Amino acid sequence: MIVDPWRVEGEIDYDRLILEFGTRRLDPRMFQNPHTLIRREFFFSERDLDTALREGFFIYTGRGPSGKMHIGHLPPFILARWFQESYGSNVYIMISDDEKYVYNRDMSWEEIDSYSIDNIRDIAAIGFDPDRTFIFRDSEYIRNMYRGAMRVARKINLSLARSVFGFNNETNIGLVFYIALQIVPTMFETKVPLIPAGIDQDPYWRVQRDLAESLGFRKVSAIHNKFFPSLLGPGSKMSSSKPETVIFLDETEETLRKKIYRSFSGGQPSVELHRKMGGNPDIDVSFQLLKYMFEDDDTKILEIERKYRSGEMLTGELKEYTIEKIWSFLERHQRSRRSVNIDRFMYDGRLANEMWNRYF
Ligand code: TRP
Repeated sequence: MIVDPWRVEGEIDYDRLILEFGTRRLDPRMFQNPHTLIRREFFFSERDLDTALREGFFIYTGRGPSGKMHIGHLPPFILARWFQESYGSNVYIMISDDEKYVYNRDMSWEEIDSYSIDNIRDIAAIGFDPDRTFIFRDSEYIRNMYRGAMRVARKINLSLARSVFGFNNETNIGLVFYIALQIVPTMFETKVPLIPAGIDQDPYWRVQRDLAESLGFRKVSAIHNKFFPSLLGPGSKMSSSKPETVIFLDETEETLRKKIYRSFSGGQPSVELHRKMGGNPDIDVSFQLLKYMFEDDDTKILEIERKYRSGEMLTGELKEYTIEKIWSFLERHQRSRRSVNIDRFMYDGRLANEMWNRYF
């Protein structure tokens, strides 16, 4: 298993990640009324969440715009919106176009720019409060962040960068400097920065936690999501480089149907056998999709689990139900995406407007 900011490969063992990264298992009881993603343990790990909840926090997360977005990219943003609704927090979303430009050495700025705008539309469509959300592209907001980046940069030496990120002599210097930039938004407020993200981003926060207090700001708290399972089954994650493993946000009902029909199932090879032996929801992709994201109703998900396991529900029936649920989500998302005004999140909303007048 390899999990770092650039690669997530192999069969992911979440208990081992908690041990290796030195985080804590997330206890859903820390919340009075936890979101489905927390209740069903899709968010599985945390660091200093108690501090954030006790002392007050703002939300910071981000996206590297190197391709179209798929449903596996959504959980941090969905949770960010939930924190905003439930706690009234400000949400800051970094679009790290600079990171993707230096990492993907075959991509042009034109390509990155078009993915940035496309991704911002998808993120804004999730339904954030336009007066309490700031979405910014690094290459554009840099004037306001540059001094902050330098404050951070002069605290990090090459030897630390190498040991935390595994850089070597072939690593370009853009990636090395980018560490400072990803840390800057943790200085946007004096409250605790709370970061919903994959645990693969943890190296940045390890560095942040080492230097935060010496610069007079708070150490990050984090809440970590699992990786979305690939449509081809357990043991790998949804990955845009393999389109057959992912559900993109712009799928049509037809392409969605095809992908779910081809997806890995925990059913038996024949109806007779399935009725007799039952299916295995634990490895069934449709069931996992419902459980983590598309079936909020606890009674309903338990009923589906029971019926599938006993053989009363067939794989085809489970897949039809999953298609229906995902399509109703995607249809709503695509409508919201068409009508959303991204300028309110980037420039004109109350928080965005304020942020363009602040320097860090
Ligand atoms: N580095 C992240 C990526 O590759 C993008 C990102 C920037 C981010 N800032 C963040 C992710 C803050 C989580 C939190 O996708």
